[in-house]
Amino acid sequence: MSGIDQTWKIRPERTEDAEAVEALVAKVFGPGRFAKSAYRLREGVEPVAALSYIAVENGALRGSVRFWPIGVGGTPALLLGPLAVESDQRGRGIGIALMQEGIEEARSRGHTAIILVGDEPYYSRVGFAALPEESVTFPGPVDRSRILALALFDGALDSIKGEIVRAYPAAA
Ligand SMILES: CC(C)(COP(=O)(O)OP(=O)(O)OC[C@H]1O[C@@H](n2cnc3c(N)ncnc32)[C@H](O)[C@@H]1OP(=O)(O)O)[C@@H](O)C(=O)NCCC(=O)NCCS
Repeated sequence: MSGIDQTWKIRPERTEDAEAVEALVAKVFGPGRFAKSAYRLREGVEPVAALSYIAVENGALRGSVRFWPIGVGGTPALLLGPLAVESDQRGRGIGIALMQEGIEEARSRGHTAIILVGDEPYYSRVGFAALPEESVTFPGPVDRSRILALALFDGALDSIKGEIVRAYPAAA
């Protein structure tokens, strides 16, 4: 959604934003986030700095998205998330805009594909679709229908098969 009432802006996350971003993620997801299987893939690994974006309005943080490097069956890929929007700011198009910015930047930097665990009806709005049954294995319990992927170039998902693991060696 964008229009004359859109006064928020998306910009790259800076070092000095990290504390506010982490507070937003903690507020939105709560302590339960540490128990999620996707969190296992982030543990001890830094997000891809060039793909972290925030939404700001009048100096206030409205939303954030980060991407983590992962490997899928030996192929480097990205994990999207956390994506978080302040609860009183939802439905303004911020979540979609944050993802679109990150996806375009990832594509322009030559990344292959993005994986996430989430609701297909929402993420299909930016092109994500469920992976074929049994094509990947996740480190920990996860609802398979929520493992979604987006190819950043034609045919990229052909190599997205196998075990999903924490950061590939040459994280960019
Ligand atoms: C999910 C979230 C990021 C969406 O942010 P947002 O800025 O409100 O999203 P947008 O404004 O871009 O899109 C809103 C639209 O998506 C829809 N939508 C939101 N969450 C949805 C979901 N889980 N399933 C289906 N549709 C969803 C809304 O109904 C709305 O539809 P409309 O445009 O037809 O009115 C936000 O609700 C949030 O932070 N939720 C809690 C954290 C979370 O679940 N994060 C995702 C998991 S990593």
